[in-house]
Amino acid sequence: MAIADPEITLLDEPTSSLDYHSIKQLRELIGLWKSRGKTVIVSEHRLWFIWDLADRMLLFRNGLLKSEYGRKEMNRLFESELAKLGLRSVSAGGCDPSVPCHPEFLPGDSFYEIKDFYARNGGREYRIPQIRFAKGAITAITAPNGNGKSTLLHCLAGILKFRAEINTPSGSLSRKEFCRSWFMVFQDPNYQLCRETVEDELRISFPKETPKELVRIGISEILKDLELSGTEDRHPLSLSGGQKQRLAIGCAIASRRNQLLDEPTSGLDYTNMKALSILLKKLSAKKKITVIVVTHDVEFIYSCCNRHIQLAYKQS
Ligand SMILES: Nc1ncnc2c1ncn2[C@@H]1O[C@H](COP(=O)(O)OP(=O)(O)OP(=O)(O)O)[C@@H](O)[C@H]1O
Ligand SMILES: [Mg+2]
Repeated sequence: MAIADPEITLLDEPTSSLDYHSIKQLRELIGLWKSRGKTVIVSEHRLWFIWDLADRMLLFRNGLLKSEYGRKEMNRLFESELAKLGLRSVSAGGCDPSVPCHPEFLPGDSFYEIKDFYARNGGREYRIPQIRFAKGAITAITAPNGNGKSTLLHCLAGILKFRAEINTPSGSLSRKEFCRSWFMVFQDPNYQLCRETVEDELRISFPKETPKELVRIGISEILKDLELSGTEDRHPLSLSGGQKQRLAIGCAIASRRNQLLDEPTSGLDYTNMKALSILLKKLSAKKKITVIVVTHDVEFIYSCCNRHIQLAYKQS
């Protein structure tokens, strides 16, 4: 995190992909700059790490400065008022995600069991003797940066090769059968948005056999649920970071497949994080869709996940 020594530092969502300890390091660094009289401007959704360091908060809405708060006014804002303003909690997010929020697995769970997992990526070897994902549940996977979370999701989605035995209570699955049942939303959605318009991007994600009328209704529901109405004709890559992320999640929902979400809330404000939580809970409860979500976002884990796995590879 070395940086030159400028008078003013601008940070654009610096925590979006950072793990808990890196966020704490960043906080210390910002504190140090502040103590040396430097100016720091941070645009953020995750307020917990910066809340007590900040002297002013500017709230923008649709490109316009909506309101401004000095330290005294910030101290008077309760969590419920922050939520009404669409802002993240200043305390809930500040928990260490390496402390489990939920069990990994419950005795009555139906499951996907991956045994003797082995993969290689970037010259490293990854081994997991056994890992089980509860079917129809929303499982959070946490581990520090660089620990192979995305590698695991890429394997489960069939993007990276791996070896494993895959079992369910009703029998074993081939790797191909298993991988085909998942839709992956990448940590960086720029890699997966490839159509000319938002509407097209969603349309091609529905299962091929879906009747046209249901696709039309489905697209409009997803756009509404993800606060993307009005963007139908836009080029996906012209959207903001958070909008792209929501669109990629919309494609996963349209696919009706199980979902692998790699840090899906990194660009989302409180309102959109909550909306995503509600959608995922609905998908898992009503459609029995299994969701595996890699995240550093404890507020999100509490908001919708019901299983939690700390990912630890066996060293070889
Ligand atoms: N294509 C690649 N080439 C070389 N090294 C890679 C490649 N992809 C991943 N790695 C390395 O593999 C390790 C695991 O990466 P991975 O992206 O799976 O971690 P992660 O847990 O998802 O990290 P983060 O929290 O930062 O997203 C890292 O050390 C990374 O540098
Ligand atoms: Mg990753």
